Amino acid sequence: MTAAGPGQAPRWHVMPDPAMLARVVAQRILELATAFLAGQGVFRIVLAGGTTPEAVYRLLAAATTDWSRWQIYFGDERCLEADHPGRNSVMAARSWLDRVPLPATNIHPIPAETGPEAAACSYRARVQEARPFHLVLLGMGEDGHTASLFPGQDHPESELVHPVHHAPKPPPDRVSLGFAALNDAEQVIILVTGANKQAAVEQWCSGAGLPVAGVHGHAGADVYIDADAWGDRNRRDVRLHC
Ligand code: 6PG
Repeated sequence: MTAAGPGQAPRWHVMPDPAMLARVVAQRILELATAFLAGQGVFRIVLAGGTTPEAVYRLLAAATTDWSRWQIYFGDERCLEADHPGRNSVMAARSWLDRVPLPATNIHPIPAETGPEAAACSYRARVQEARPFHLVLLGMGEDGHTASLFPGQDHPESELVHPVHHAPKPPPDRVSLGFAALNDAEQVIILVTGANKQAAVEQWCSGAGLPVAGVHGHAGADVYIDADAWGDRNRRDVRLHC
C-alpha cells in the first residue's frame, strides 16, 4: 500500500471526450473488481452520484463479472423519496444495478428519505461495518464539492457520515459520506467532465482547499478528466499539483 496522506497530489488522466473517459473508467473498475474478488472474495464499491457517472454505469451493466460478490454503497444521497427520479440510487439502479444479477441485499442505499440526521445515523453503522472500501467513485461540482461535501460547510475530518442542510446544489437536504469514510478506501477514482468544471480544476491545481482535494484514499486519487474540463491553458504555473 502506497503511503499517502492529505495534500497528496492526485494522478490526472486526461481523456479526449466523455465517451472515452467512461470506457476507460469502466474498464479500470472491472480490473479492480477482478483483483479484489480474487484476493478477498468481495468488492466493496462506493458509487458517485450526479450525471457524469451514468455513462460508466451503463457500460458496467454489459460487463461479465461475479455480481454476487459486489457490495454497493453510496457516497451521498439527496433527501428525496426512495423512488424519486432525482435520487442517486435511482439513477444507479436504472442505468446499471437493475440490469445485472446483483442481489438486492448487496445494495446498501442511504435511507435519505428519512431526513439528513436519521439517515446519517443509520448509515454510519453500515459504513462502520463495511469499511475499508475497495473503491470510492466520486464526481466534482463546479464549486469543487464532492459527494455532498460543499465548500464553506463544516465537515469534521473524523466524520463517517454527514447530514447536510442548505446544500447550494438542490435539494438542500442531503446525506454524505464524510472524509473519514471516503478516505478509508484502497482506491479513489474521481470523474470530472465539462468546461463548466474548469474553474474548480484550476483552483484545485493551484492548491485551494476544495472538498474534492481532501479525498485521497489510502493511495492517492486518480482523477479522470475530459479535455473540456482540463482546458487548453498552459498549466506550467500550476504543475505543482497537476
Ligand atoms: C450529487 C452528486 C454530486 C455530483 C457533482 C457532479 O448528488 O449531485 O453526488 O457530488 O457528483 O455535483 O455532478 P455532475 O456529474 O452532474 O456534474
